[in-house]
Amino acid sequence: MAKEPGSSKFQVDLRGHLRSKGVSNNLTHLICEIADASKYVINAVRTGDLGVAGTSNLYGEEQLALDVLSDRIIRKRLIHSGVVCNIASEEMETIYQAKANAGGLYSVAYDPLDGSSLVDVNLAVGTIVSIFQGPELLQPGRNQVASLYILYGPRVSLVYTVGDGVHEFTMNHLMEFTLSRENITMAPSGDIYSPGGLRNKYLPGVEQYVQYLEAKGAKLRYSGGFVPDINQILMKGKGVFFYPMLQGVPNGKLRMLFELNPMAFIIENAGGAASDGTRRILDIPVEGLDQRAPVFIGCKEDVAKAVEFLNSAPT
Ligand code: F6P
Repeated sequence: MAKEPGSSKFQVDLRGHLRSKGVSNNLTHLICEIADASKYVINAVRTGDLGVAGTSNLYGEEQLALDVLSDRIIRKRLIHSGVVCNIASEEMETIYQAKANAGGLYSVAYDPLDGSSLVDVNLAVGTIVSIFQGPELLQPGRNQVASLYILYGPRVSLVYTVGDGVHEFTMNHLMEFTLSRENITMAPSGDIYSPGGLRNKYLPGVEQYVQYLEAKGAKLRYSGGFVPDINQILMKGKGVFFYPMLQGVPNGKLRMLFELNPMAFIIENAGGAASDGTRRILDIPVEGLDQRAPVFIGCKEDVAKAVEFLNSAPT
């Protein structure tokens, strides 16, 4: 608990909140270290070099200097936390072993700066983190013990779940995260849709789904950044994001380990759902760092409707 200067209100900080949820000391330490690292990432986003790093990642995407820097900032923190054995980052080609496995340690997969190409047009970006207990990173997302994201927008916010509700913290003027919303929940269905991918490459079922959403009066809200797009749906408590399978691209774009599993864990814990069109995202076996899947994520009924359209339309 910290008192805001000039205010009579006591604020709950991230560490205090994690403790109140009965989270173990090691996991509390780990989540707080990641939160701390984000202060340096936001500093880099605000003032750092917008150029390219001259390298490419596992997916052949050109790495920006900011991608590389954010990756280093977070990895260093994870290694020095002393509670992490294995680390996978969207910016690294292989799993990095920080420490030999021992009881009480965690493994972490993260996307240091998702949507980084939006920084030069001054749109919001984010860090996404998935945490498993023990050394195994390649396993279904339902086994995560925690996931979180940090959104670098006009304000910096952190949203986490340890499987016991979804909670939002906002960075204050001292760069501390204090609780802004607790136990965030999603309505069964919503009126916002966030569609990724080229529409002229949509399969018939996806196209029919878009027409259904438009007919029910849903508003288009797509920024091109997964973190702000998911955050909007979650904070409004209604809506659906999808990055579907496309003609010739059956697995869509987003990665299981770094994007889909952590976000699906958060959205499910807020009462929503996430599907690849046939399977629950959190049940999909993960076999490689670069594994991708189509995704429909958000309000339960909106996701169920997407599945219905996909399964009844010709392919
Ligand atoms: O995976 C990176 C990312 O930038 C996500 O943040 C975003 O949802 C998606 O790609 C946007 O892809 P597209 O530019 O194809 O809409």
